[in-house]
Amino acid sequence: MRTVAVYSTKGGVGKTTAAVNLAWEASQQFRVLLWDLDPQGASTYVLNVKARVKGGVDSLIRGKTEMDAAIRSTTYPNLDVLPADETYRGLDLVLDAAKKSTHRLAKVLESVAKEYDVVILDCPPGASLVAENALHAADLAVVPLVPSPLSLRSLAQVNEIIAASDHPPKVFAFLSMVDRRKLVHRSAVESLPREHPQVIDLVVPSTVVIERMGSERAPIGIYAPGTEAARVFARLWEFVHSASKVKRSARLE
Ligand SMILES: Nc1ncnc2c1ncn2[C@@H]1O[C@H](COP(=O)(O)OP(=O)(O)O)[C@@H](O)[C@H]1O
Ligand SMILES: [Mg+2]
Repeated sequence: MRTVAVYSTKGGVGKTTAAVNLAWEASQQFRVLLWDLDPQGASTYVLNVKARVKGGVDSLIRGKTEMDAAIRSTTYPNLDVLPADETYRGLDLVLDAAKKSTHRLAKVLESVAKEYDVVILDCPPGASLVAENALHAADLAVVPLVPSPLSLRSLAQVNEIIAASDHPPKVFAFLSMVDRRKLVHRSAVESLPREHPQVIDLVVPSTVVIERMGSERAPIGIYAPGTEAARVFARLWEFVHSASKVKRSARLE
């Protein structure tokens, strides 16, 4: 099982959009679990999964609710979701009260390690204990960067958090929500991948097709196959796949 955290300290940068589409792309080849860690439950909503965790996230973290009982299947083969509900607002406190408080998510995930090849973590923004846990559990952290003079700060913050970890993931960033009509965006596309080894040469454009995901409530590959947007997320998955070295499952249906 390989775990990929889609993470940034910033909100509204395209984390959920990337997480949902990466999970769907991965599910074309692998058994995939998308864990929605954000109390806003955006990926839960997009994938049409009931936003209710029996006993709340507290009982999941404390091992009182089995992962299997909380995980929901989606309408897509090989793609399951561990939904977020409003109890996730208290996840930081739950983690803080637990033993080995930065290792809890990794521990909980161990129980499904044989059932999934890929786990995608859709993280909330902020440098919280949830983030530390997600980065500790992850083999790879994927960071969307919206081009701006400050965008590199969020990447630096991710690097700071993982520098303190005893199980640091690999990290890469990609440019997200890029509007080529804007000079700042064009120059970021030019310079960031060249100047920063962690920034891959892949640009997710700002488009209506991608924005529509919230109303279509489906991965882009489903409602807009063959578009540039669909191709970009397929390529993003290829980067993730080769960076995280997911092994092919013999048991894929
Ligand atoms: N490439 C894009 N083009 C247009 N709209 C986008 C794009 N990426 C994200 N959005 C929109 O921006 C908002 C925030 O994106 P989201 O993926 O939810 O970010 P985050 O999870 O980082 O908060 C959503 O309404 C989403 O539909
Ligand atoms: Mg989100």
